[in-house]
Amino acid sequence: MPYCKTGVSEHWNDESGDWGDLDGPLQVPRYRTIARLVASFCPGWPRSILDVGCGEGVLRDYLPEYDYFGIEPSRIAAQTASARSGQDHIFCGVAAEFAPNGRTFSAVVFNEMLYYTPDPVAILSQFAPLAPVVIVSIFQRPVSLKEWFGHRVHSSMNNVRCMQLILQFAATNGWRVESDELVDNRWRIVAMRPPVI
Ligand SMILES: C[S@@+](CC[C@H](N)C(=O)[O-])C[C@H]1O[C@@H](n2cnc3c(N)ncnc32)[C@H](O)[C@@H]1O
Repeated sequence: MPYCKTGVSEHWNDESGDWGDLDGPLQVPRYRTIARLVASFCPGWPRSILDVGCGEGVLRDYLPEYDYFGIEPSRIAAQTASARSGQDHIFCGVAAEFAPNGRTFSAVVFNEMLYYTPDPVAILSQFAPLAPVVIVSIFQRPVSLKEWFGHRVHSSMNNVRCMQLILQFAATNGWRVESDELVDNRWRIVAMRPPVI
């Protein structure tokens, strides 16, 4: 499948209508696990997270004590995320275009998004200097994505392979894996610390 049929923003605008399920009960354990990891690895102050590929910003509801920032290419989803967290907290664009302007965060979260990008490792490297903790969740269900999502298959690479690449990258670049769990036999969620440079 091509990475994106028409362009990242248009493509994800088209997907927006199908996103009710991201706010549904099936997904709750995924958001709760990420919120628990953020709370346990980033207890200090100031508390702020950057949610890359934040979609409609659902994760924000699970982290009310954190200042929540998001990056989202779909204009439609970004509007919903802005309504949740404030317009100046959401950058509407792709991750590679994001300029932090000196800002840092308690954690950067990639929740079900890295395998949609052409080069997940490049995105990880780009964001690593912005926070002491990086949390990645990736769908790991051992079924064909095409069977699972039908027309919604648009990943740039196999999801399981994507997590392997990320962990290889982490191991060879001195990142410390703090936690690695399989949630509901669906999502692998890993919390890592990049080396301090
Ligand atoms: C499956 S949704 C997950 C949304 C959200 N993280 C959640 O779990 O509720 C994947 C998200 O990744 C975003 N995305 C895709 N390619 C992206 C890119 N290159 N940069 C930033 N976000 C991207 C999509 O627009 C979409 O919102």
